[in-house]
Amino acid sequence: MSFFLFYQSCYGLFLFTYPISFSDRAFFCHGRTWRTMLQYGYDERTEILKKEVDPMTPKIQMKTPLVEMDGDEMTRILWKMIKDILILPYIDLKSEYYDLGMKHRDDTDDEVTIESALATKKYGVAVKCATITANAARVKEYDLKKMWPSPNGTIRAILDGTVFRKPIMVKGIAPLVRNWEKPITIARHAFGDIYKNTELRIPAGGKAELVVTDAQGRQTRRTIHEFKGEGITQGIFNTDESIRSYAHACFDYALSVKEDLWFATKDTVSKIYDHRFKDIFQEIYDKEYKTRYEACGIEYFYTLIDDVVARIIRSRGGMVWACKNYDGDVMSDMMATAFGSLAMMTSVLVSPDGNYEYEAAHGTVQRHYYKYLKGEKTSTNPVATIFAWSGALRKRGELDGLPELQTYADALEKATIDTIESGTMTGDLYSMSSLPEKVKVNSEEFLNAIAGRLEKLLA
Ligand SMILES: NC(=O)c1ccc[n+]([C@@H]2O[C@H](COP(=O)([O-])OP(=O)(O)OC[C@H]3O[C@@H](n4cnc5c(N)ncnc54)[C@H](O)[C@@H]3O)[C@@H](O)[C@H]2O)c1
Repeated sequence: MSFFLFYQSCYGLFLFTYPISFSDRAFFCHGRTWRTMLQYGYDERTEILKKEVDPMTPKIQMKTPLVEMDGDEMTRILWKMIKDILILPYIDLKSEYYDLGMKHRDDTDDEVTIESALATKKYGVAVKCATITANAARVKEYDLKKMWPSPNGTIRAILDGTVFRKPIMVKGIAPLVRNWEKPITIARHAFGDIYKNTELRIPAGGKAELVVTDAQGRQTRRTIHEFKGEGITQGIFNTDESIRSYAHACFDYALSVKEDLWFATKDTVSKIYDHRFKDIFQEIYDKEYKTRYEACGIEYFYTLIDDVVARIIRSRGGMVWACKNYDGDVMSDMMATAFGSLAMMTSVLVSPDGNYEYEAAHGTVQRHYYKYLKGEKTSTNPVATIFAWSGALRKRGELDGLPELQTYADALEKATIDTIESGTMTGDLYSMSSLPEKVKVNSEEFLNAIAGRLEKLLA
């Protein structure tokens, strides 16, 4: 019996991921004089007690709207709090708002998700709240018309981007790997390979073959295996176009954050498939990036996947690690755990034509939301969502030539980190932090504590 696996040249989408640390980013205060906007009593270790907004306070003006994608459950509650407490008092926020909450996606037959992605293509920068990906339970809970696809999947397909995931590091929460001093950013090529596989079970006595038919109808055939007993086989593919696009995204991203780019495959075993990734990366690096990397003092480093894992563990961190699809899937979860918490991991989708979508890497924190609905105060960690906002505002500032917006973003991140490092934190961090003096606060108290520090930094 023969089995044919057809490899077709096929073009399509792919994706990527990233987390943050403040420790490697200097904070620059441009010495601007800000009129005091908030007056409050402030206890360094706990919370802002009172605040009043001075209506005469000048706010930072924006030129181009930010695409704002609202979301679901507890993160939707945090979204509003972050805007009210940390953003709107300082920025005359220009945003084009899209409600990606589950109910509104259902009401609009998911058109709103598509519109928000198209708006990101138009304006270049978006910030996204975590959203529910519908499953059978959610269809029942929200009485949905159907099981709508993942909004992140829809947005990625339209933007054709790579996701970079980077952890936010703070004193008191040491990475499980003791020598990691700086965050490690993971990029994942989220197109093809086993995620678009074709697989079959093979009965005893079966023969699996790989057959490629070219445009003229000529066939190339290779035997995969002749089976004595039962077995399995799978066919996978990738495209030069997708690999090239991924390579560009990785080279550009590493250059923009001035960090070395590491890439690894198993080309010694996979001499055609994985080797193609290696060759495409090297060719693009030599032609388009070598000079710029050398001028910037960073390097592109290629090695084998097993070697890179060992080197990453021994390293001090501070690099962008580009992964093939499966490696990125596995390694990004390992990194989030090893650096401490999913709630401290941010993510940015970067498209080949220069669009950016910032978000937290975690979900909607459903369990906390049900507590919130019962009227309980929750201690949900808003840090990754704050960094999604600061990342988007900083990028908007860079693109529009607004240094005050970039300064604000730096200050917001510093205020957030300083608050945690001074001992005020949400429950998830409290249970992990080794700081000798620490206080667990609820989300609102935490945001108010950040506001107190932010106010001082911007004064
Ligand atoms: N990017 C996204 O929009 C995204 C990503 C993942 C999951 N989701 C959606 O989120 C919903 C819940 O999914 P889940 O429970 O698997 O993932 P989740 O990230 O919401 O929660 C996973 C675990 O981490 C904890 N956690 C996560 N973020 C936290 C925070 N900020 N503060 C404190 N604790 C935090 C939660 O309490 C939970 O124990 C699902 O409907 C899923 O579809 C969305």
